[in-house]
Amino acid sequence: MYKIFNTVDDVSRYTAQRLFDQICAKADSVLGLATGSTMEPVYARLMQYLEQDPVDVSRLTTFNLDEYIGLGPEHAQSYCFYMYQHLFNQLRIPGERVHLPDGTAENAERACQAYTEAIQAIGGMDLQLLGIGTNGHIGFNEPKTPFDSRTHVIELTEQTRIDNGRFFTDQREVPTHAITMGIQEILEAKEVILVATGPKKAAIMAELYHGEVSEDLPASVLKMHRNATIVMDKEAAALLPTKEGLIAGA
Ligand code: GLP
Repeated sequence: MYKIFNTVDDVSRYTAQRLFDQICAKADSVLGLATGSTMEPVYARLMQYLEQDPVDVSRLTTFNLDEYIGLGPEHAQSYCFYMYQHLFNQLRIPGERVHLPDGTAENAERACQAYTEAIQAIGGMDLQLLGIGTNGHIGFNEPKTPFDSRTHVIELTEQTRIDNGRFFTDQREVPTHAITMGIQEILEAKEVILVATGPKKAAIMAELYHGEVSEDLPASVLKMHRNATIVMDKEAAALLPTKEGLIAGA
């Protein structure tokens, strides 16, 4: 379940290879995609693999995990903007197969319901990619989010707003709410890969490793998943016990 690599580049190559293999094995795969700085080198590697070895992506479907409420696709800090910048401008998946929660929907609750229905209609994700917040959130499912939640509106915690403030020019610009895929939808993915890199993730990764399954730590739900892999670099894994076999690719 846990894989630890030496460097961010090793982590990114491993994760991108898993995505690439999934696309090769099943041309109509449904991918659950994540944003954040952790995913940037993963998507860069994936694009490199696809350039070296072109694969038909016209039948892929994607669902992104989350979006800030109030930020439209043209906003440089929206996750929609991020996805086009880092992946979709190069990866030519037909537009109607690309799904992102609509942060500017007039009726956010209805938009959440529609997102849930679209995920259910296609039968859920084949492969779900996840990052992790320093408070253990996955997507924007903050601590205490019910494990049986589906796509919903969430109020961001102060910790998350501070963490993500680094992408905004002013802390006050960080949205207070977001739409996120629910934990139940993440849990229903056939396979999940959570990626954590860098020293800022070390404390939460140790908590996750040692802790019980609890709604206080949303990522802990992955311990209940049949096919979840948690991939870290040495910095994110710095507080985990060193065990033979835990380190892959070292
Ligand atoms: C945001 C996103 C999460 C992501 C997390 C970690 O809060 N909503 O989906 O996992 O940031 O981001 P980073 O990779 O930049 O540390």
